[in-house]
Amino acid sequence: DKGIYPYYMLKEINEQPNVLRKLSQKYLSEDGQSKIDPKILEAMKAADRLYIVGAGTSYHAGLVGKNMFEKLVGIPTEVEVASEFAYADPLFSEKPFFIFLTQSGETADSRVVLQNVTKRGFPTLTITNVQNSTLSREADYTLLLDAGPEISVASTKAYTAQIALEAILAKSLGESLGLKRAADFNLRQQLGLVATGMQAVIDEKDHFDEVSKQYFVEASKAFYIGRGIDYYVSLEAALKLKEISYIIAEGFASGELKHGTIALIEEGTPVVAIATQAKTASLTRNNLEETKSRGAKTFTISTESLAEDGDDIVLQDVDEMLTPLLSVVPAQLLAYYTSLNKGLNVDRPRNLAKSVTVE
Ligand code: M6R
Repeated sequence: DKGIYPYYMLKEINEQPNVLRKLSQKYLSEDGQSKIDPKILEAMKAADRLYIVGAGTSYHAGLVGKNMFEKLVGIPTEVEVASEFAYADPLFSEKPFFIFLTQSGETADSRVVLQNVTKRGFPTLTITNVQNSTLSREADYTLLLDAGPEISVASTKAYTAQIALEAILAKSLGESLGLKRAADFNLRQQLGLVATGMQAVIDEKDHFDEVSKQYFVEASKAFYIGRGIDYYVSLEAALKLKEISYIIAEGFASGELKHGTIALIEEGTPVVAIATQAKTASLTRNNLEETKSRGAKTFTISTESLAEDGDDIVLQDVDEMLTPLLSVVPAQLLAYYTSLNKGLNVDRPRNLAKSVTVE
């Protein structure tokens, strides 16, 4: 039931702080100890490489997870688009471990990969929002997102829940391998900060309504740019905008602009930069300036510690690995209001289904 909300998407965006709090309580004790099933951690410990497989938004959540597994666990991690990986005849490492990210647990593209790797005897884990879903039943292990039903075709709370659960899993695994960085990472506290930071963005939603009316509703194209995990969020931000507002939107690695894509910038083209990482924020800002001098209407999403005068959205500070949980929320809201202000059916965009059970 949508309750007071005109569309499920807005309800689901608003639920995110609570979804994260619940997830944190479910999988971490009050003093921060992992409550993940030790059998899963044992199976993962034996791996020489992790493969994260997903489609659409779940693939994008996987990209963000790679950084956490490599930093907190030290196991090389590959992230694969399910429909590509299924037919790519990939060369596997000797002891791979497969993680399937799927909100619905029914995505056919991901299921084909699961069936392929199961045949070869490799261990598998499904992270899903739906108990007893097909991919949950067919994998060796399951971890549930418990985000509550996601009805809107555009995925929002499943993306942030998947990232948070990847963080919990990476911390738990790193800790069980005796790694200090993982043990010292106070994730329970961090997820609390993230929930507060999300709420702060959600409380500003009228601002996104305004920005969407002024700059996005009339636009035929729009771009998100960033580097590293900010780039990965850009991909998700652009997907949200294209699927429900039908604006041609792309996420670009900001350093790549000068290698070709800056040619797309015209007078008034909206370009949003995500700059949440100390190592790369100023580079991304420079790239954004270059689009501005070609006529782009620019927006910057930064964090308190990296903020500069004139930034449009300043997110509360959280550990740099977790900034995607915050930086995606403005993009979700911009997509939502742009779709709404264009008079489109936000929850049921044309040509799309909530779960894609054909290849
Ligand atoms: O249920 P899944 O997570 O496996 O679904 C994967 C994609 O179909 C899904 O994320 C899709 O990209 C969304 N509509 C994006 O908002």
